[in-house]
Amino acid sequence: MKAEELSIKPEKLDLVQLKERVLKWLSVHVPTSRIRHILRVEKMSEELASYYGINQEKAKLAGLMHDLAKYFSPESLLQISKSEGLEIDSVLAVYPHLLHADVSAVVAKKEFGIEDEEILAAIANHTLGCPGMNQLSCVVFLADTLEPGRGKTPDLEDLRQLAPKNLYQAVWLTSDYTIKHLLGLHSLIHPRILLTRNWFMEKAKKELHEHKSKQTIN
Ligand SMILES: [Fe+2]
Ligand SMILES: [Fe+2]
Repeated sequence: MKAEELSIKPEKLDLVQLKERVLKWLSVHVPTSRIRHILRVEKMSEELASYYGINQEKAKLAGLMHDLAKYFSPESLLQISKSEGLEIDSVLAVYPHLLHADVSAVVAKKEFGIEDEEILAAIANHTLGCPGMNQLSCVVFLADTLEPGRGKTPDLEDLRQLAPKNLYQAVWLTSDYTIKHLLGLHSLIHPRILLTRNWFMEKAKKELHEHKSKQTIN
């Protein structure tokens, strides 16, 4: 069927076809419950992107592809990471599952031809974040933890309220939420989530300070 027959622009049709291809691939590599999570992340990424005036199509694509490698074996994750030249530090060596974010970006590029560096970075940053990551990465990072299927605890509900209002504060406090959760599980914590938390805490506090200074001057 041609694009004109569907009354949508060719680039739109490409996106529809791409999503169909990704969903077909996911149906083979990922359980149905995870696909539902992925679709909720796609939707929330799009919503947050619209609040912050960033590219919604990129946010949707990054959300749709963020967990492509979620069910790859630890051996595959390590092997692909090594062949891609990714650094395997001591935490990743013990817990290769954390590499699924970086490896999902590799799959997005190799399997689906995604070349956009912002989309690839947003996929790679969805679990641990990254100090100074851009707004697209921030919205996918938030959507992964805050999508409605994650539960309805007061902490999560507070973070969902905050996410469309203050992006940097939301990334800081969502990192805190994840770190507290991992402490409760007596789990290994990768230092990058701490670096993400520190960077966005400083950024949010600086913005708040500047906002207050402006109010005083006015
Ligand atoms: Fe993930
Ligand atoms: Fe996820």
